[in-house]
Amino acid sequence: MADNQDKINVFKDAIKQNLGPVWKYLDDKTVSEILINSASEIFVERKGKLERVPESFADEDTLRAAINSIAQSVGRRISEEEPRLDARLPDGSRFAAVIPPCSRKGSTLSIRKFTNSKISFGDYIKLGAISEDAARFLDVCMFLGKNILVSGGTGSGKTTLLGLLCSRIPKGYRVIVIEDASELQIEYEHVVFFETRQADGQGKGEVSIKDLLKSSLRLRPDRIIVGEVRSSEAIELINAMNTGHKGSMGTVHANNPDDAMVRLEALAQSGDAKISEKALRQQVTSAIDLIIQVSRFSDGSRKVSHISEVRGCLPDGTYDVVPIFEILDMKRTPEGKLEGRVEATGNIPSFMDEIVDNNLPFPRAKFTRAA
Ligand SMILES: Nc1ncnc2c1ncn2[C@@H]1O[C@H](COP(=O)(O)OP(=O)(O)OP(=O)(O)O)[C@@H](O)[C@H]1O
Ligand SMILES: [Mg+2]
Repeated sequence: MADNQDKINVFKDAIKQNLGPVWKYLDDKTVSEILINSASEIFVERKGKLERVPESFADEDTLRAAINSIAQSVGRRISEEEPRLDARLPDGSRFAAVIPPCSRKGSTLSIRKFTNSKISFGDYIKLGAISEDAARFLDVCMFLGKNILVSGGTGSGKTTLLGLLCSRIPKGYRVIVIEDASELQIEYEHVVFFETRQADGQGKGEVSIKDLLKSSLRLRPDRIIVGEVRSSEAIELINAMNTGHKGSMGTVHANNPDDAMVRLEALAQSGDAKISEKALRQQVTSAIDLIIQVSRFSDGSRKVSHISEVRGCLPDGTYDVVPIFEILDMKRTPEGKLEGRVEATGNIPSFMDEIVDNNLPFPRAKFTRAA
């Protein structure tokens, strides 16, 4: 623990000395992200909205030196030969940089700050991100061990929701979490965290999500959580979900629940596994039970926009994805905020019998569409 605190101090010193102009935003609790596009162009995100700030670096060399030295403080390097870097900082923040020649305007850097706020379902409801009934329904799905894909665009709140769902896993399971850069915050008694490793300067030593998924299957997992499914590891996750690892979850980049299915299928196909399109679709549909779509709205808020059930494939080969809850009646308040209600669509989940058999307090009437 002290060791990590030392590392945090080294990193903070590196930031303080090198990121002079923007240091204050790191300490500013209202700022969630710092985006440096070049020495003279800096934005910050506050309450989900971007704003340009007046600070700047003396010149490109100063900014580049700052990025080098922050990278060094976490034992990494960035250079013209390897002009990009993604790293998790010792305090849990995420750091991503791309430097010229790959970045045209100058060195680009983003720091997504680690927020220590442990968001609960209660907070999530209060924030207006979900309705109480929809949150209860998700709780029911977590209890029943449904396999869930959280879908959304960049920065839409996928990881936040995935973490929230993980902390609702009923007691008594062994959970294995696999991420590119460890960021999920999970309150659970039995959880193992794995993190990928990039190849070293000689291109050796890479440990991918796929590798870690394979290892995790030999480590007696009950539920497997993949922070972000972005490549051919999708097929391993689908197989795991279909072979007894109920209650597994992951996130995927997509703009709506139907696209999420198509994306997962495309990712699964991108590996070496030779499998017919029809067979793959069958596997994907039997693996995924639910898709939760999160969206970032124009007022900066992030909300759940759909909770959909995957029922299979339609005769034309497309996925049969049915919304159970959906955001309705989006209205702008006089203060410019967008408000909407996540309401039942009237579709009853195909696993209603399981809800009844387990005596879960979620009556059929809750799925009735409000008049
Ligand atoms: N419902 C919410 N209300 C307000 N802020 C939220 C909500 N959900 C997430 N956030 C904030 O939005 C930011 C992005 O969230 P998160 O990291 O979960 O998104 P993401 O979709 O996983 O992003 P990425 O695409 O970069 O992986 C974080 O600062 C997080 O605290
Ligand atoms: Mg994320």
